[in-house]
Amino acid sequence: MAQNPSLPQLGKNSRKEIISSMTLEEKVKLLVGNGFHMGGANPSGPTIGLTQDKVPGAAGTTYSIPRLGIPSMVLSDGPAGVRISPYRNKDSSRSYFATAYPIATLLASTWDTNLVHQVGASFGNEIHEYGIDIILAPALNIHRNPLGGRNFEYFSEDPLIAGSITAALVNGIQSQGVGTSIKHFAANNQETHRNTVNTLVSERALREIYLKGFEIAVKKSQPWTVMSSYNYLNGTYTSESYDLLTTILRKEWGFKGLVMTDWFGGKNPISQMKAGNDLLMPGTPNQTKAILSAIAHDSLSVQVIDENVDRVLRIIELSPAFKNYSFSNKPDLKEHASVSRMAASEGMILLRNESQSLPLSTQAKIALFGNTSYDIIAGGTGSGDVNKAYTISLAEGIRNGGFGLNAELGGAYESYIKEAKLKRPKPRFFFDIQAPIPEMNIPQNIIEKMAKDNDLAIFTIGRNSGEGADRKLDGDYYLSKEEKNLIHNLSIAFHAQGKKLIIVLNIAGVIETQSWVNEADGILLAWQPGLEAGNAITDVLSGKVNPSGKLATTFPMDYKDVPSQNFPGKEFKDKATKGMFGMISMPAEVSYDEGIYVGYRYYSTFQVKPAYEFGYGLSYTQFSYSDPKISDPLFGKNFQASITITNTGKIPGKEVVQLYLSAPGKSLAKPVEELKGFGKTKLLNPGESQTLVFPIHLEDLASFDSKSSSWIAEGGVYQVKIGSSSSNIKQSLQFSLSKEKLVEKVHKVLLPEVEIKELSK
Ligand code: BGC
Repeated sequence: MAQNPSLPQLGKNSRKEIISSMTLEEKVKLLVGNGFHMGGANPSGPTIGLTQDKVPGAAGTTYSIPRLGIPSMVLSDGPAGVRISPYRNKDSSRSYFATAYPIATLLASTWDTNLVHQVGASFGNEIHEYGIDIILAPALNIHRNPLGGRNFEYFSEDPLIAGSITAALVNGIQSQGVGTSIKHFAANNQETHRNTVNTLVSERALREIYLKGFEIAVKKSQPWTVMSSYNYLNGTYTSESYDLLTTILRKEWGFKGLVMTDWFGGKNPISQMKAGNDLLMPGTPNQTKAILSAIAHDSLSVQVIDENVDRVLRIIELSPAFKNYSFSNKPDLKEHASVSRMAASEGMILLRNESQSLPLSTQAKIALFGNTSYDIIAGGTGSGDVNKAYTISLAEGIRNGGFGLNAELGGAYESYIKEAKLKRPKPRFFFDIQAPIPEMNIPQNIIEKMAKDNDLAIFTIGRNSGEGADRKLDGDYYLSKEEKNLIHNLSIAFHAQGKKLIIVLNIAGVIETQSWVNEADGILLAWQPGLEAGNAITDVLSGKVNPSGKLATTFPMDYKDVPSQNFPGKEFKDKATKGMFGMISMPAEVSYDEGIYVGYRYYSTFQVKPAYEFGYGLSYTQFSYSDPKISDPLFGKNFQASITITNTGKIPGKEVVQLYLSAPGKSLAKPVEELKGFGKTKLLNPGESQTLVFPIHLEDLASFDSKSSSWIAEGGVYQVKIGSSSSNIKQSLQFSLSKEKLVEKVHKVLLPEVEIKELSK
């Protein structure tokens, strides 16, 4: 980079000196990104503003000021892997494919922070070697409703899991010298009207559910950046909210990095600057103009700009671009694929295994049904998608695993899918979701022949979703008629031969299972497992890997049981206007009436039995829980609980152990139980034991009291419930806290503008 030795240089001189050498225009340009290629990873799309092409297909870059030694940083999506263009300048001789890691929901289902850290380190290396400074991930919004279109990018319905897994991933990624952007801050839990929806949420639900994961992640991992969200939160755009971005994020939690907007998020660049939303992405010339004009007219002070610039510079100083890192563009994709495969098999969940139908017996001859068995979904769409070199289908994975596959059936599916794809309309925009190909209508005589000629049937059910739209009930949350028929017909034909039917769920989010579950002998929830999908699924089906994943999100019996029935809120059609890119912009509002009763907090407290509860997952072996202990019957410093887990079955396995607390609930209404700790054993051999220890802090006892805007730990008796799921509690203990304790008093901010009539016990 051209440097001028007579001028201060970033890194050599203090940031203060650098800032005082910057022109006002340079300062403002540093706070507004360089623009954007429409079409995401498609660089041939129209350009808004200026774009630098160091890494084609990256989502954005920051402004460079070479005379002061300030380089441009490259920002790229996304949560499941680096999202860049696989080819450059029409040169097909060299490719830039990236590793598709398993989706976030699968990573959370591992409940294994060490493993997620390892995934982060591998991912971070790839980010570094592709010349990217900041990855726009992880995303940790809450699974408020099963239909959330981006739930696959998010971890859980529970903030402790979401925050802890995020922190592990961030620490892993940032250990490689690159940055993260945890997103979308905050209360961005739906895609319908995502740029206009006003999320109304009570102070308590906000603090306990929707902010908590971010708080954990910030405190445990100091992500370089935070991305504010698209929505309004209690009447203010999050990117324009001083209370959210400065009072809470910085003053209360001690966040040291920079805040950027989501792409084109918010409305008023002046308010964004004042709120502490330092960087406007991807950046437009109009934003620069508006900020300069506000300064000229004294409605924005240079002091605010200087503070924001300082925070941006601080992150630039950490970046590979600043260190002039000479990236190889050749990450070790083979090694990363093996990390992806290993992580994928660790987060798959065995939902059902009647009469030990799984693992498969060696040499089994399989009749493989379902479109996605042959055309598997590695990950979701939109900015959460990854341009990967390949995806291993389940058919390939099964063949690689040495099992026999019915070739006739395979051939029929391959040609059916090929033809159906040719007929399908092409997506118009990069986050358009193509309609799924309907399942083939297979005559019963053929199914019966398959049942005679093969040892078992596997049927994969696939679902995809992504940003820009929420999921639908018909044919998505609920199975389609064709899918139900096929399950039914397979079940009859294979069971008539004394053979099993296994269902593999290659899905991005929760679906209905109750109406068909009894027809299947085994169900493996494989989620969307990344580019090694078929191999990883086969690892679990074959027993090479004993499943140890557990649900970090509840599968309700039926959609009508979901507490957030008003999802995705109401729209104000009469107030619709033409928005960005000619799209309709419709004011909308959603009120989080279920309050803190999200996910298992609702199902357990209101005794609504789910199909598969939070924390649920089977193994090919069994475990016993013995010798529960607490360090003292009276709560105090260094308090902890412990439990000994023994593998009582016949094969090695790992167990995810969960610790829930039930509070006295006298002064404040409390959920019946709340997850306050979790751990996973190592691979235990038959007969082997391991003792897991769970520290419990005073904060873990606290709930948010809106009257005093403080976190309060009630005095009284607490139950410690240690179990293998939220409803399968194996051991209970109790301790008491002598009297009520004030844990932390915080600012009374972000209150809803209207009273929310919240669900109460
Ligand atoms: C998404 C973000 C993403 C950004 C950049 C937005 O549409 O909401 O998650 O990081 O685009 O691609």
